[in-house]
Amino acid sequence: MRTIALIARKGGGGKSTLCAHLAVESSQRNRTTIVDIDPQGSLADWWNQRTAPEPTFAMVDVDQLRQQTLALEREGIETLFIDTPPHQDESTEQVVKVSNLVVVPVRPSPLDLRAIGPTVALIARMKTPFVFVLNGGTPGARLNDEAVAILKKHGPLAIARIHNRVDFAGAMIDGRTAGELNSTSKAAVEVSMLWKYVDKQLRKGA
Ligand SMILES: Nc1ncnc2c1ncn2[C@@H]1O[C@H](COP(=O)(O)OP(=O)(O)O)[C@@H](O)[C@H]1O
Ligand SMILES: [Mg+2]
Repeated sequence: MRTIALIARKGGGGKSTLCAHLAVESSQRNRTTIVDIDPQGSLADWWNQRTAPEPTFAMVDVDQLRQQTLALEREGIETLFIDTPPHQDESTEQVVKVSNLVVVPVRPSPLDLRAIGPTVALIARMKTPFVFVLNGGTPGARLNDEAVAILKKHGPLAIARIHNRVDFAGAMIDGRTAGELNSTSKAAVEVSMLWKYVDKQLRKGA
């Protein structure tokens, strides 16, 4: 089983949005489950609105994360996504420990960029591979390239970028993803490229 966590110290950067979208992409080929350890439960709320059965959702007790992820693997789950809260504590460490890859969404804004330090420090301490994803930028804005230059100094950055597109939020209102709303939209194409990139990192042994 491959486990992918969405972690970022800054709230609103797109953890839950990307977790939902990547999990749905993954579920087209792999048995995929999502876990939401954020007490706010926005991913759980989204999943409860869904009518499609995949990906499935699992409740976990963070204190027993290792045992519970092993149990999911035994059940035949191939890909597991874990959404996390913005605050970082021991539970975030537990999540990083059980993950093969951490995806760190970052908006191209000074506030988001300043918050990456503690996130990277935590992940690096656990020696878990991670990748930044530039999320929510205005298409064509110079700020995107400036953010890319900064991010690259701190770690690997996904070549696929996710821009600010109304479909990302709109689709999630009723438990769907941008791709489920309109499979040829720009938002859908961006997510599909991001999932291909993440999948490739995992295959490389991330
Ligand atoms: N690429 C995007 N385009 C448009 N809206 C986005 C995008 N990414 C996130 N959002 C919106 O921004 C808000 C915060 O995103 P969310 O995924 O909840 O962040 P986090 O889980 O990191 O706190 C939500 O309202 C979400 O719909
Ligand atoms: Mg969230």
